[in-house]
Order: sequence, then C-alpha cells, then structure tokens
Amino acid sequence: MAVFSSPSSSVVTVVLLLLSSVVSVPAVLDFDKCVALRFAPPPPPTDDPEAIRSARLRDMLCRDMERVIYLPYRGTGKHSPQYLAALKKLDIFKNNDYALDYFLRNHELPPPPSPSPSRCHFVQILDFQKIYIYIYKFLNSTFRQRERERMSGAGKVVCVTGASGYIASWIVKLLLDRGYTVKGTVRSLSDPKKTDHLLSLHGAKERLQLFEANLMEEGSFDSVVDGCEGVFHTASPVLLESSNPQDELIKPALKGTQNVLCSCAKVPSIKRVVLTSSMASVAFNNRPRSPDVVIDETWFSDPVYCEESKLFYHLSKTLAEDAAWKFARENGIDLVTINPGWVFGPLLQPTLNLTSEAALNLIKNGPDGAVYRYVDVRDVALAHILAYEVSSASGRYCLVGTVTNSSEAVNILRKLYPALKLPERLVWAFYDDRLEDGKPTEPLYQVSKKKAESLGIHFTPLEVTLRDTVESLKEKNFLQF
Ligand SMILES: NC(=O)c1ccc[n+]([C@@H]2O[C@H](COP(=O)([O-])OP(=O)(O)OC[C@H]3O[C@@H](n4cnc5c(N)ncnc54)[C@H](OP(=O)(O)O)[C@@H]3O)[C@@H](O)[C@H]2O)c1
Repeated sequence: MAVFSSPSSSVVTVVLLLLSSVVSVPAVLDFDKCVALRFAPPPPPTDDPEAIRSARLRDMLCRDMERVIYLPYRGTGKHSPQYLAALKKLDIFKNNDYALDYFLRNHELPPPPSPSPSRCHFVQILDFQKIYIYIYKFLNSTFRQRERERMSGAGKVVCVTGASGYIASWIVKLLLDRGYTVKGTVRSLSDPKKTDHLLSLHGAKERLQLFEANLMEEGSFDSVVDGCEGVFHTASPVLLESSNPQDELIKPALKGTQNVLCSCAKVPSIKRVVLTSSMASVAFNNRPRSPDVVIDETWFSDPVYCEESKLFYHLSKTLAEDAAWKFARENGIDLVTINPGWVFGPLLQPTLNLTSEAALNLIKNGPDGAVYRYVDVRDVALAHILAYEVSSASGRYCLVGTVTNSSEAVNILRKLYPALKLPERLVWAFYDDRLEDGKPTEPLYQVSKKKAESLGIHFTPLEVTLRDTVESLKEKNFLQF
C-alpha cells in the first residue's frame, strides 16, 4: 500500500471534468474520505509511450488522493494480511469490523474496459476514474447502508430459539449488530460453552438476554416470545444418525415447532415468524435429478420417500415445515421459511456442530463422492434477517450457493491449502467399493437462487466459504497445520 497526502486542487478539477463525461459524479466529493484504487500487481514496465503517459497521469492522480490501496478483484482468493491491515487503517473501517466485512464481501469492481479508439489515451485514466468513483460511492453507500442497517433493529425486540447453535449464533450476532434487542433461548444456562460466545458478542451486554427453554415442554417459549416483534425459530435436533429417530429427531422437531408457534399465536405484537427449515424438506422425493433440473421453492420432500430411505433428519424437517405452514394458515401467523443447503463457514460457538464436523472430516478423510448443496453460514443468517425485515418477503426461500461434488470442494481446498495434504480419495473407500474413490456417485443438478437473490442475498463464493471454514477450524484448534 502507498499512502499519499496533500491534494492538489488543479488535479481534482481535471479529475472532475474527466469524470463528468463518463460517470455520474456525486454532487459533492469529499476528498477526505476518498480512496483511490490500483490493480495489483502494478503494470509491468513498458516502452509503449501511450502506456507510459497513462501510467504517469495515473500516478499523478494517485499522488493527489489521500490514500491509495491495492485491491484484488472480489473472490480472487485470499486477501493478504498486508491488504487487510491496510484496509483496517482506513478511518472508515477503524473499529468497525462490520463495515470492513461488508466491504470485503460485497465490493465488486466495474467490468474491465472495452477498448474504444475514440477514447484513445484516456482509456486507462477514465477507467481508473470510474474505479475511483466506484470506491467512493461504495464507501459512502456502505456508510449509509450500515447506518440504515444499524438503525433497522433499534428499539425492536426479537426472539431466537436455539440461540447457541451454529446458524443461530450468527443470526444473534447480525441482529445485535443491527441494534435489535435479542431474547435467545438455550437448553441450559449453566453451560458456558452454550452461552459465553453469545455473551461476548458486540452489543450483548446491553441488548442480549438468554432464557432456558426446551422444545419438548409445552408453553416453554411463552414468556420468551412475549413482547417480541419477530421470532426466529432455529432450534431443532441436527443428527444424521439416530438409534431412536422418533424421540431424538421427529418429536422435538415437529412438537417443538408446534410449541413455538403456539406461543407466538398468543402474542399479538409478533409481526412475523421466520422458521429455519432446510433443503432436506425440499429436495428429497422420487423426482429425477440431472444437470438440467432446477430445484426451487415449489419442490417438497416426500415423507414416505424419506422414511423408506431412512432419511430421518430429512423426515423431521419435512414434517416440521409442513406442520408450521398448516399452523400458520389456521392461526393467521405471517410465516417465512429459510431452506438452507449444507451450511459451511466460520464458527462462533466453541464446539463442533454437525456440518463443521463434516467440514473437518472432508479435510481429514477426503471426498465421499456425494453431491452437496453448499451455502455460507453468514448468508444463511442474513437471509433470516432479511426475511424478517423485507415486508414483501413470503413463502419459502431455498438457500444454496453452489451445488457440487465433495471432490470439487476438496480440489478447491487443495489449491487454497497445499500444506493440508488432503487425501485424494475417501479413506473409507479403501474398504467400500461403492464409494468409488471419491468420484461422483450421483448426478449434478441446480438449485434456483432467484428468490434468495430477490431478498438481497449475494451468495458468498464457495472458495471464500471453504477458506473461512478452514481458518476458523484452525483458530479454534480443531485443525493443526
Ligand atoms: N447446518 C446445516 O447445514 C443446516 C442446513 C439446513 C438447515 N439447518 C437447520 O438449522 C437449524 C440450526 O442448525 P445448526 O446447523 O445451527 O445446528 P446446531 O448448532 O446443532 O443447532 C441446533 C440447535 O437446536 C437446539 N436444540 C436441539 N434440540 C433441542 C431441544 N429439544 N430443545 C431446545 N433446543 C434444542 C440446540 O440446542 P443445544 O445447543 O442445547 O443442543 C441448538 O441450539 C436447525 O433447525 C437445522 O435443522 C441446518
């Protein structure tokens, strides 16, 4: 990063004149907040006089901007520690991890220039200007957006059931960041592993209250949802194997959802309930899958198919969602469901949940050849909040960023982390021929993103999710390399 100072008004005027012909210029340019941008790596030395001229002009402009940072394109890999450190030094991001995270996850540079002879030697300069203006606008709108978002929950009280869970912890974090007062339920208040990470979140001291509640106890949620405007019902057992699926999975999922909704029906202040359902209640039926098939919100899992296939977790989620829709219709509850795929991404809680453990197993044991519907936990949490805040939100929202084979996920990890020495084939495949050494065992298909995108979700690239999962597992000492 290079830092420059002392803006020169003549260059600023030139810049504005140039800009006004290409892009719409904000009425007032606040140069104190401007950040110029150059591509990394800087262009190689050249003999071309046009390139030299452009480079000189560009350097001159850089010199006259307060700060110059080098930005990689979004999603082009890991941000270097130097780059992150440079960004953190900017006033705009100081002590504001939320804005920085938002920027890193959302900034996207304008498309590369289309060469036009009429723009001759200004081409590079003009494109540079566009980028400069883009960053300026982005930061300004980030500020505005952050303020809007921060205000969106001020004075509002909402409830999150199963608050200590993997997805719920992120929902609580984002809600607190937006100014909401959160009433979270946990099964046991005396287990610090379930509460400490929540109590240490920014804003928790002032605006987070935790309560004990159990899905299996009728009326357990009555006092917690009382006085709330919104309820996020995430609590449900997440187990893929069970010796007693009725008691361990189906009853808590189904009865628990009915219990929570029953409590909500008694509270007139509740405007909407957002239920964490799953792709498990969308995609599991006898319908054929192929690369042309697009699974969307009109699909429903078939309980008979789930039971016959011994997919009891899928059965529990299908029955729970079905019961929720029925109860909501009969009791006039405004219900929205979020149906995430296989959720990966950084952990806030200190223990492994099922999918983080699956990520760890993928790294240790290699791919199993199955197709997964990957989605980032931060996108899932945000979708819950948008489903509550966007008044036009309704129905179900499939939430899947990437459908791919687990061997592809391992390939990405191998490129990101050569030091991990990931296995080429599933360790168990040595004993089980059906697993075909991690090669695809089922066809690919698609999951529609339309509805989720209409809610305002920009899916995090799988590379970023996998990288952040590994970093988080490493940071929490589940992974050493
Ligand atoms: N992870 C995924 O890939 C994924 C995908 C789609 C949908 N989902 C759904 O997302 C929700 C959260 O899952 P997660 O991945 O975040 O898993 P998680 O970390 O295991 O969270 C599950 C939560 O449910 C709570 N819970 C379970 N049984 C309960 C009971 N009888 N009474 C009260 N609370 C109970 C757990 O409480 P304790 O902490 O006390 O155990 C925990 O807080 C679930 O509804 C799950 O079906 C997850």
